[in-house]
Amino acid sequence: MKFFADTADTAAIKDLAATGLLDGVTTNPSLIAKSGRDFMEVTKEICGLTDGPVSAEVVALDHETMMKEAEVLRKIADNVCIKVPLTIDGLKTCKALTSEGTMVNVTLCFSANQALLAAKAGATFVSPFVGRHDDNGFDGMSLISDIRLIYDNYLFETQILVASVRHATHVLESARIGADVATMPPAVIKALANHVLTDKGIEGFMADWAKTGQSIIK
Ligand code: G3P
Repeated sequence: MKFFADTADTAAIKDLAATGLLDGVTTNPSLIAKSGRDFMEVTKEICGLTDGPVSAEVVALDHETMMKEAEVLRKIADNVCIKVPLTIDGLKTCKALTSEGTMVNVTLCFSANQALLAAKAGATFVSPFVGRHDDNGFDGMSLISDIRLIYDNYLFETQILVASVRHATHVLESARIGADVATMPPAVIKALANHVLTDKGIEGFMADWAKTGQSIIK
């Protein structure tokens, strides 16, 4: 399963890229606003921090303007992935862009039927929002299972990019189901390494090692 960072914070992206665990980045208008930076400038910088796809979202709601915005965005770098909302205009834009070989992430997916449409539109990625689904009394992970089943039934190549990930259990369940990607806030990616028994084990080994009076590096 690929790990994308769901952020426009370049310091956090650099930090994660250095671990070798980062496979790409997703942004959205809210994350760009949070960064306080110029959209084009920060997106270009992010594209230079990873070889993987970097999702940059259109803000138009109609197909013609989405195409014009995509034209500007895709010139930023070869690894830009155009993010479009799951609307009829977004799907039309997705079809047009992927037919030309441009990567597209169809976002704001909240139902398996919407995911079916994204696949039929040739999406590179579909982004079901599990956290927001849970927040509204639905079961985010059962949505991922349904999409996996449907995509496998028809051999769709659209990758399931689990978004709105809030905690480690979302990641674990995504991996169990066989989602292709999880995009997560950097803190969630780092928290996956935490375990109380790992900390306790290190503490014990360090205490015993100190008793030997030895050092590995002379
Ligand atoms: O980037 C889309 C998605 O991951 C947003 O997550 O936490 O705002 O629901 P959240």
